[in-house]
Amino acid sequence: MTQVDVLLGLQWGDEGKGKIVDVLSPQYDLIARFQGGPNAGHTLEFDGKKFVLNTIPSGIFNEKTMNLIGNGVVIDPIILKRELDNLKKAGHDPVAKGKLVIARKAHLILPTHQLLDAANEQKMGKDKIGSTLKGIGPTYMDKTGRNGLRVGDTTLPDFKDRYNKLVEKHKEILSHYEFEYDLTEKEAAFFEAIEFIKTIPHVDSEHYVNGFLKEGKKVLAEGAQGTLLDIDFGSYPFVTSSNTTTAGACTGLGIAPNKIGHVYGIFKAYCTRVGGGPFPTELDDEVGENLRQVGHEFGATTGRARRCGWIDLPALKYAIMLNGVTELIMMKADVLDGFDTIYACTHYEHNGETIDYMPYDIITVKPTPVLKAIDGWKTDVTKVNKVADIPAKLADYIAFLEKELEVPVKFLSVGPDRVQTLELN
Ligand code: GDP
Ligand code: IMO
Ligand code: MG
Repeated sequence: MTQVDVLLGLQWGDEGKGKIVDVLSPQYDLIARFQGGPNAGHTLEFDGKKFVLNTIPSGIFNEKTMNLIGNGVVIDPIILKRELDNLKKAGHDPVAKGKLVIARKAHLILPTHQLLDAANEQKMGKDKIGSTLKGIGPTYMDKTGRNGLRVGDTTLPDFKDRYNKLVEKHKEILSHYEFEYDLTEKEAAFFEAIEFIKTIPHVDSEHYVNGFLKEGKKVLAEGAQGTLLDIDFGSYPFVTSSNTTTAGACTGLGIAPNKIGHVYGIFKAYCTRVGGGPFPTELDDEVGENLRQVGHEFGATTGRARRCGWIDLPALKYAIMLNGVTELIMMKADVLDGFDTIYACTHYEHNGETIDYMPYDIITVKPTPVLKAIDGWKTDVTKVNKVADIPAKLADYIAFLEKELEVPVKFLSVGPDRVQTLELN
């Protein structure tokens, strides 16, 4: 019996999960997304081509790997159809090749869920979460409120009635907002997409994944968002609506905790956040702007400028603890190539104390980061493809992080392409 390895983000998302899942996928028989929805944007680059996946697992470009959209994911049929249509146009048709299956128990995002998301954010004004407006929060609310519609329901004879019942409820809520909308076009697209979704095999993810394990096959669970956006442990309420942590892989796929194997925690050599909420090491200056430009830090899903700052070790330690990370993966080292000095936040000054954890009142009282200066390597690392060629100062930075975080760095990424990846130890 094999175990499920997990790969997830340790910061506020966009760490580079898509790229690394694609790189690792030849080692796996199944790649399984376990939470989130099309709020995610996972970018993959190879052979001069670039793809952004929102719902589809990032193993889709590897010929022999199966891909599962797990029960913990919320699916927008319109977006999933569009993703698959675009892939088909680019010469990749995972549906025709039988390489994609969907969990029956995954919940559906309705057009009215998106409207509710937008109406709510509009009402919150300057206090808004900064949601991607994909309807994620309202869909998970209906899931936990026991009103939701699931993929498996689409084949029931009364699916349309169930849909209408839920939409009536949403319209009632929307009537309390000053919010104009027209559903006609979206609804037609929704039902067209539902017919398409029915052509993709529906499975019980719990039996499907455990079946792979019983046969000794290898499974990698792909996270979306990042640990600091977790509904329970992130900077609430500036979070997403699912458990983005390792525990989420158990409930989002139907695997027992003792079936978890390696946990790959992925982080950028610095830090970014998109949307509202606390960000202790944020650089609201030309250094932050430099990171944004060099790192192309603009959202893969919404195109929004990402907020940028230095690496935050208290936040990373917290994420490592919550996830049981066994190996680290450091991304975007090349973005720091031009810096004379880089900085790492080792502690926070908070309410007159020096602390090394994320405090509960981080939302209301901004911690001041205590920064350690680190020499930059001042070398173009984008073409480094041997461990021996890693500049000494970059190797020192990695050694410093390993010592602080007490977990080895297994992979180093030095550019967006598949081939710009080094295995360290
Ligand atoms: P994800 O949501 O975690 O999959 O990450 P995103 O795809 O949203 O954002 C990561 C961005 O960084 C994408 O544009 C990637 O192509 C890019 N990227 C990934 N790894 C590297 C790297 O090592 N260096 C550089 N410069 N870009 C990278
Ligand atoms: P990937 O998988 C970065 C952020 C939004 C917002 C908050 C809530 O590409 O790393 P939601 O749409 O869930 O209601 O938004 O979470 N957010 C992300 N930030 N990467 C993501 O996904 C994100 N998904 C959601 O910007 O602040
Ligand atoms: Mg992303």
